[in-house]
Amino acid sequence: MKEKVKRIRAEIARSLDDVSTVAGLREVRSKYLSRSGEIPALLKLLGSLPKEERPEAGRIINELKNWAEEVFDSREAELAAKELEERYAREALDISMPAEFRRVGTLHPVTLVREELVRIFAGMGFIVYEGPEIEDDYHNFTALNTPRDHPARDKQDTFYINEDLLLRTQTSPAQIRMMETTKPPFKVVSPGRTFRRDDDATHSPMFQQMEGLVIDRGLSLCDLHGLLDIMAKNMFSSEAKTRFRPSYFPFTEPSVEVDVSCFECGGAGCRLCKGTGWIEILGAGVVNRRVIANCGLDPDEWTGLAFGLGLERIAMLKYGINNISLFYDGDARILSQFR
Ligand code: PHE
Repeated sequence: MKEKVKRIRAEIARSLDDVSTVAGLREVRSKYLSRSGEIPALLKLLGSLPKEERPEAGRIINELKNWAEEVFDSREAELAAKELEERYAREALDISMPAEFRRVGTLHPVTLVREELVRIFAGMGFIVYEGPEIEDDYHNFTALNTPRDHPARDKQDTFYINEDLLLRTQTSPAQIRMMETTKPPFKVVSPGRTFRRDDDATHSPMFQQMEGLVIDRGLSLCDLHGLLDIMAKNMFSSEAKTRFRPSYFPFTEPSVEVDVSCFECGGAGCRLCKGTGWIEILGAGVVNRRVIANCGLDPDEWTGLAFGLGLERIAMLKYGINNISLFYDGDARILSQFR
């Protein structure tokens, strides 16, 4: 028995040096220490020994077992640490390496303007409603006090789909749809695409507007002025002022054209404002009583303020762009300059 124990001890000592991985070591370990391994097999032999030899034999086998467990444990710890080191080395990242280049898109300049305006008006309690791009004649014209023979229709050369349907020429029909469906008082802005048969440096057949409508009791032109002044100060410069000039729209009475003091020269006169100190930015007015009545509201009770602005025009002014087609040519070299 002594011989056997000695032999096994020597074998284990040798294989500890031979083995170089945790997995390999565990295999060797189970060869000696698992339930069917060689050391438990020795213990089973005890019963066949003469009685007086048993205590001594049991002692040396147990000693062997304790020793084996200890050396396997410590060798395993050693190998595990080595393997971890190797893995760290293998999977190391060079964080100083230059990253792969990725192109990041930008929002379209007209989208930027629209989002900024929506944010400004939302801050004043406006909700957003987007009307349909394909409208009927009634909502785009008739309900807005522009019947079929009205001369104002000429100014908005229209894409007709058939007798009754058309591509909306303005976002104003959204006013009608809001008044038809929403209980006043309310404040709403309506941004969206509009279409006219028009094409030059400042006109595109597809362009975008944003309509504003406030319906409440007892509103006046002064409220409109205050509202648009806050918009101009937020949109252009805290120094910006606005002024009203008389104008005409069929659906507002009185109607005004709104100018903002030139944000390039501060009002002294420059190329942008053509020497006048003022830049026209939108049309507006007090909603015509007839329009209110057309939507089933009582014009003696409810008053309305409306304004409509061209988003491309604002973007051209803000970013110093002189040709509207740059917005829609889809040239990423130009569009990606706006952030
Ligand atoms: N819809 C008008 C236009 O396209 C602008 C406008 C809207 C004017 C609301 C007054 C009030 O010219």
